[in-house]
Amino acid sequence: MASHSGIQKGPASQSLPVAALRKPRILVAACGCLGAAKFGQICCSFAEWAEVKAVATRAGLFFIDRATIPNGVQFYTDQDEMSSWSRLGDPILHVELRQWADIMLIAPLSANTLAKIAGGLCDNLLTCIIRAWDYTKPFFVAPSMHAFQWRNHFTEHHLMSLDELGIALIPPISTSHMGDHQTGAMASLSTIESAVKVYYETRMLLGSSNAKQEV
Ligand SMILES: Cc1cc2nc3c(=O)[nH]c(=O)nc-3n(C[C@H](O)[C@H](O)[C@H](O)COP(=O)(O)O)c2cc1C
Repeated sequence: MASHSGIQKGPASQSLPVAALRKPRILVAACGCLGAAKFGQICCSFAEWAEVKAVATRAGLFFIDRATIPNGVQFYTDQDEMSSWSRLGDPILHVELRQWADIMLIAPLSANTLAKIAGGLCDNLLTCIIRAWDYTKPFFVAPSMHAFQWRNHFTEHHLMSLDELGIALIPPISTSHMGDHQTGAMASLSTIESAVKVYYETRMLLGSSNAKQEV
């Protein structure tokens, strides 16, 4: 497996010209992991400088306290995908969200959804968005799993597929239990936020310097 000590491979290199005129639109998603207990805090920190919409898998809902999702953040589940469509011609939620977002972040990403992304499966709202995603737009994932799952052949194999898609990995961290160090816990909230923010601000700076050169 490649070293997971730092953020892996930059996301897709599309500049974000429209975002210069407004706040970036970040679609934040959570899977059914222990790390999802922090999902409300993740939404809060991004909502300070971005427009945020949130998605959770059915298993993710088990770990998320909805009361922690900030008021301005629309929160979508599989139920919304089905209930928002009734006849041909109606908008389809996963397509609408894919179009709306400038940046996608899954924090936490489960072993299950990691495998689904690698295999191209799309059996819920989140994986339908991912299956329809425009991979010229930046996409970050912050896995959260038991060390036994993280240190596993499947994980290594599936991460290679994400790397090929240009998805940026925010690696899990090592935690200590009774002197035993294990890697698999989701990166800290500050690491996750700064990975996305630094990328966004760098793209903005590049965009403005390109614009100056064009003048
Ligand atoms: C208490 C509990 C904690 C779990 N923690 C994790 C976790 O941290 N990471 C993970 O990949 N799966 C974890 N799981 C298993 C996932 O919830 C399970 O694989 C689920 O199908 C993931 O669905 P999703 O990928 O659609 O969110 C946990 C399950 C339970 C019951």
